[in-house]
Amino acid sequence: MEIEMKNISKSFGAIKALNDVSFSVKGGEICALIGENGAGKSTLMNILGGVLPADKGKILIDGQEVNFQTPADSLNAGIAFIYQELNLINDLPIYENMFIGRELKTKNGTLDLKKMKTKTKEVFEKMGIELDPETMVRNLDTSYKQIVEISRAIMMEASVIIMDEPTTSLTDQEIKRVFTMMETLKSHNVGIVFISHKLGEVIEFCERYTVLRNGERVAEGMVKDVTVDDLARFMVGHDLLSQSIGRNFDQGKEVLRVENISRKNEFNNISFSVKAGEILGVTGLLGDGRTELFEAIFGRRNISEGKIYLNEKQVEVENTTDALKKGIGYLPRNRKENGIIKDMNIFENASIVTWPKFADYGVIDEKKQAKGFEEQVKKLKIKMGAKTDSINSLSGGNQQKIVLAKWLIANPDLLILDNPTQGVDVGAKEDIYDIILKLSKEKIAIVILSSEAKEIIRICDRALIMYHGVIQGEVSGKTMNEHDIMRLATGGQLN
Ligand SMILES: Nc1ncnc2c1ncn2[C@@H]1O[C@H](COP(=O)(O)OP(=O)(O)OP(=O)(O)O)[C@@H](O)[C@H]1O
Ligand SMILES: [Mg+2]
Repeated sequence: MEIEMKNISKSFGAIKALNDVSFSVKGGEICALIGENGAGKSTLMNILGGVLPADKGKILIDGQEVNFQTPADSLNAGIAFIYQELNLINDLPIYENMFIGRELKTKNGTLDLKKMKTKTKEVFEKMGIELDPETMVRNLDTSYKQIVEISRAIMMEASVIIMDEPTTSLTDQEIKRVFTMMETLKSHNVGIVFISHKLGEVIEFCERYTVLRNGERVAEGMVKDVTVDDLARFMVGHDLLSQSIGRNFDQGKEVLRVENISRKNEFNNISFSVKAGEILGVTGLLGDGRTELFEAIFGRRNISEGKIYLNEKQVEVENTTDALKKGIGYLPRNRKENGIIKDMNIFENASIVTWPKFADYGVIDEKKQAKGFEEQVKKLKIKMGAKTDSINSLSGGNQQKIVLAKWLIANPDLLILDNPTQGVDVGAKEDIYDIILKLSKEKIAIVILSSEAKEIIRICDRALIMYHGVIQGEVSGKTMNEHDIMRLATGGQLN
């Protein structure tokens, strides 16, 4: 099967999301669709998936023009769409989710649960997925939800599968599994549209690429002819920096110190400190315990032993509200699930933690709050319509910026950022790094949890490397390098 999208244009009010864009994919090929946040990738695929109508242009399947009015039309034509924002029902088990909208029935019209279970099991076995079909979806990690979505597309025997940032919230190991699946699909002559900000993945797994910038197609070609740097340059229109910023920062007073804190099976005997104005990185591989450690510092879980000091005073952080009161901010990972409140508009999402700050005698100074918000929108170059628009009207990366903006407005003493550039394009990454640097100049102590060694090296003054719940080592300054970090992260030592 070959799909061609020809001269597609689409506007949302005054925003021109797509302008005369053409794109194609055929069976057995993995095609990358890349571009900065807000470039129009999801919009283009929403049109192919029958979610949105195009203003102009046409879609051809094997040379025949088609007209998709609904997602079902697109699906019936053999196109499965795995959305950027996952689309599963938490209160149903996996196997029922696999058949939503196409439930199997017994002869007398009741749901054929047994058959749905068996079919799900078969697909899982075929793809080498170790998941129990009876597990409730709410108990799955984001990564496994992703895998369930992919399996669903496989089960529908789609000819083309669109994956909108499938690996953004996955660990390296899980990413490998997804790619193995993609290779298998490819060998079954399935075509894949792969949207990702991880350019390394694009180079490794895709054959062809198309680059969008500001709603226009600015480059396309064969992946074998380009490098990661080329792709990044096409996306943003200029060269990018990758070396360490390597700054000399003004060390301020100690903001956080932990002494010998532990929690059973999660982290053990952890001691370190962070100073005002410092950017401390914490990294490691899957199961290193860094998220658990910082969730404990933020009051999301208890510690069983040890002491925490904030601004040189010993504290007990009872819960997250208490943490906020004590001046600790926390940007959780998996923005899709933890960072955003879908029923609130953009401004409400950005303001949610700042009510106390702008409240004078219990009355919120809305003007002040709105001013703080407008400033951040400018600083972070957030691409949006009106601030009262739904948060869902923003592209994925811009949603991430809103979540970050909310902490910038709150101005805490200590800010913990778990995967701050998850799902963010290479250009916007630099914008976010700029903001983090500015914050540190305002004497906020910053902790960045990240699985990307490159990110740690680029932005952090110093980094702790964790391995199975302990701090395995520390690196700092201009000599930080990926090799040392990897060595510590896998349990080795530096000489
Ligand atoms: N439903 C909508 N209403 C209004 N504007 C929209 C809507 N959907 C998308 N847009 C706008 O269209 C533009 C393209 O958005 P799109 O979601 O396609 O970007 P993207 O390339 O997928 O970005 P990301 O990498 O951040 O996911 C953006 O400016 C976005 O704000
Ligand atoms: Mg998108």
